[in-house]
Amino acid sequence: MKRVVCPGSFDPITFGHLDIIERASKMFDEVVIAVLVNVTKSSLFSVDERMEMIREVTKKYGNVKVDSWSGLLVDYCQENKIPIIVKGLRAVTDFDYELQMSQINLQLKGVETLFMSTAPAHSFLSSSLVKEIASYDGDVSNYIPASLVPKLKARLAEVQRASGGK
Ligand code: PNS
Repeated sequence: MKRVVCPGSFDPITFGHLDIIERASKMFDEVVIAVLVNVTKSSLFSVDERMEMIREVTKKYGNVKVDSWSGLLVDYCQENKIPIIVKGLRAVTDFDYELQMSQINLQLKGVETLFMSTAPAHSFLSSSLVKEIASYDGDVSNYIPASLVPKLKARLAEVQRASGGK
């Protein structure tokens, strides 16, 4: 059985992520989406909320599972016997960092990384941009699943209220 992991922050999951997940689900027996705690980023949604949203929008795929991990990705791979990481590459700007990560993951625990090119329609897309557009009340319906739009708007409104509307 060929199992792979698609790791990320998914704060929130976008159509760019879903494109990679769907294509990977056709190539491998099982795709595990691992929500990782990224210490370099502060998140809008908790890990549990992100997992719940991912479950909701990936339930149509029979071979996609959702999990979370706080620690090194290679340790997750080792503990769950997953030999391959699948990642999307949007543009050359992603490449330096992703190459470095893939090399360190290979050296640390022999875990391979397969890069898939993001569909051109999503090459500019990121969760950060989606949050920024939504925070200015822009239309994000082309970037994230419809069921997540009200959740994102509601959370951004909460954050804005908590910061005194600044
Ligand atoms: O969606 P993101 O934030 O670009 O995903 C990045 C992520 C979470 C996949 C990456 O930061 C990661 O793998 N973090 C786990 C810690 C780790 O294994 N770091 C690499 C070796 S130092």
